[in-house]
Amino acid sequence: MWTFLTLAVSCAFHLARAVETTSGGSRWQFVQNGTTGVVALQSIVVSPSLILLLDQPTGNPLQIDGHQAWAALWNTETNNVTAVDASTITFCGSGGFLSNGTMISTGGTPMVISGNNFTYPVGGDGQVAVRVFEPCNDPAGVGCTLFDDPTKLHLAEARWYASTIRIFDGSLMIVGGIHIPTIFFNTPEEAANTFEFFPPKDGGIPRPSAFLDRSMPANLFPRVFPLPDGKIFMVANNQSIIYDILKRTETVLPDIPNGVRVTNPYDGTATLLPLSPPDYIPEVLVCGGTNTTDQLTNIDLHQLSSQDPASDQCSRITLTPEGIKKGWQVERMPEGRMMPEIILMPNGQVLIINGAGTGYAAMDGVRDPIGNSNADNAVMTPVLYDPSAPRGRRFNRDGLPTTDIARVYHSSVSLTPDGNIFIAGSNPNPVVTTGAKFSSEYRVEYLNPPFMSVPRPVLKNVPKQVAFNKKFTIDVMIPIHLDASSIQVALMDLGFSSHAFHSSSRLVFLDANLSKDKKKLELTSPPNNRIYPPGPAYLFLTVDDVTSKGIKIMVGSGATPPVPDQGVRL
Ligand SMILES: *[C@@H]1O[C@H](CO)[C@@H](O)[C@H](O)[C@H]1NC(C)=O
Ligand SMILES: *[C@@H]1O[C@H](CO)[C@@H](O)[C@H](O)[C@H]1NC(C)=O
Ligand SMILES: *[C@@H]1O[C@H](CO)[C@@H](O)[C@H](O)[C@H]1NC(C)=O
Ligand SMILES: *[C@@H]1O[C@H](CO)[C@@H](O)[C@H](O)[C@H]1NC(C)=O
Ligand SMILES: *[C@@H]1O[C@H](CO)[C@@H](O)[C@H](O)[C@H]1NC(C)=O
Ligand SMILES: *[C@@H]1O[C@H](CO)[C@@H](O)[C@H](O)[C@H]1NC(C)=O
Ligand SMILES: *[C@@H]1O[C@H](CO)[C@@H](O)[C@H](O)[C@H]1NC(C)=O
Repeated sequence: MWTFLTLAVSCAFHLARAVETTSGGSRWQFVQNGTTGVVALQSIVVSPSLILLLDQPTGNPLQIDGHQAWAALWNTETNNVTAVDASTITFCGSGGFLSNGTMISTGGTPMVISGNNFTYPVGGDGQVAVRVFEPCNDPAGVGCTLFDDPTKLHLAEARWYASTIRIFDGSLMIVGGIHIPTIFFNTPEEAANTFEFFPPKDGGIPRPSAFLDRSMPANLFPRVFPLPDGKIFMVANNQSIIYDILKRTETVLPDIPNGVRVTNPYDGTATLLPLSPPDYIPEVLVCGGTNTTDQLTNIDLHQLSSQDPASDQCSRITLTPEGIKKGWQVERMPEGRMMPEIILMPNGQVLIINGAGTGYAAMDGVRDPIGNSNADNAVMTPVLYDPSAPRGRRFNRDGLPTTDIARVYHSSVSLTPDGNIFIAGSNPNPVVTTGAKFSSEYRVEYLNPPFMSVPRPVLKNVPKQVAFNKKFTIDVMIPIHLDASSIQVALMDLGFSSHAFHSSSRLVFLDANLSKDKKKLELTSPPNNRIYPPGPAYLFLTVDDVTSKGIKIMVGSGATPPVPDQGVRL
């Protein structure tokens, strides 16, 4: 009755199919449509049709209540934007979903930035903010609001440039940052080298981190991932650890090779590669950044140039005892990138996009900024990385188009539920700036994969919620010309994009059997809440390298965190 299809079989088809589609009628395409009205320096998909954008009030055209906006909802159906009222300054924060589907935005900026002698015309101090965006089902965002009142809800410690991820109990873990804005590096006086949680644990007392102390001063926006056993992998500067939340221990892993440093202001990017049944072996890929020394402070910035080459290094590690013993394996991108972003695609490919060929993150630091930008030579062509291809043959840019819009500092990017890539923002300037080489960028561009212009599989009768380790069946419609011997089902957290890091981004492949008549798909949800931290997800089906639209599904009980362990232990 049911045909069992292994992932190994489907992976073998990728490269061949990608080449075929580029020479056929369908191809990768950049399509520009609409403007965001606020700079999309953080973005997160909050519903099937809406992306929440966060910025700062430094001259945005979009208005709300008679003043400029700094938060907005982008509608992917109408390519139009609606202002959202934020009361504190969201600039340079992060965020993620809780297990109950509520999105939380954390941290931000004070009203006065003294380094630039700058005072915001509107907005309150956002450094301790915990903003709440409740699940909002109106497709146009009517009635969707951001609750933002630090007197009622706040972090324990002020955090600028912290990272936020959802963990195994559905809470958020907030990692690192600095207490006040800095011109460039983290500083010993103001470092927030601690972890805290929302909802709070430990009576709200932040946990100090030796790892964050050691990785000073280029350790802002640490790249952190929940592993399939619930422990947390972290990389900051050129160092990496595994943190055990329950035991509070840090296990030191090898440094990134060749002195390459990958966190702000030396931004590379990083991702947990797709996890596959039955073993869900975690592998991490870290790309870009710089090999410039970290033996500097904020008074040494004249030593840095916007023309210093960015690193072309990608480093990959398998987080098993053997993999850790083997250490990081080095590969090279076609070019160096400062501030790249990684997008996991539903077929398991990894898209590396945006960033600059030279210089650094942040602004007005180096001796020769371009306008205010510490970076130059924007990289305009994305590249694909196939994690399952043999080493040396993983990078491929056949058929990938080139844009003419630079996306450098303060830009963001996300896979959308439609299956294409939303690209917005870029503003390496303290205030809204026009006429510069790197102006404030409001134009939205989508990168459409080849499958956007062909008949696609359709998912129907997807349950709104599924428990862990459960078999469930959905209806599918598969276009007749597609070879249904090659299918992949991806359960994805689309992540939160801020400062070249897509926090909580995750792809778990599901065990899937297609019925003989190709109309029903039998699936098994992830075994437990450590393999997929409980919370919202999108389900995508890829048949013969053509991907369906993603359908939203709540994974786990949907209860308010902290939630107990669910499913089966592996
Ligand atoms: C832009 O998006 C709108 C709304 O989806 C659509 O009607 C219009 O055709 C699009 N324009 C282009 C150039 O794709
Ligand atoms: C876009 O949204 C604004 C409100 O944010 C509205 O005034 C305008 O009419 C909309 N434009 C289109 C083309 O839908
Ligand atoms: C900010 O103001 C102080 C005091 O007026 C001044 O000393 C300093 O140079 C100013 N800094 C900048 C970056 O303009
Ligand atoms: C990582 O950076 C530290 C501090 O600069 C340096 O001492 C160490 O040698 C680096 N590790 C590697 C593998 O390059
Ligand atoms: C540092 O990175 C640059 C740019 O990729 C490269 O040309 C240079 O050889 C690297 N230096 C070392 C010591 O690895
Ligand atoms: C798919 O079929 C195989 C072989 O019959 C079976 O072991 C597996 O449990 C099935 N998976 C699902 C999700 O039904
Ligand atoms: C989810 O939990 C948070 C934190 O307790 C709470 O503020 C929020 O209202 C909850 N959302 C839902 C939909 O219950």
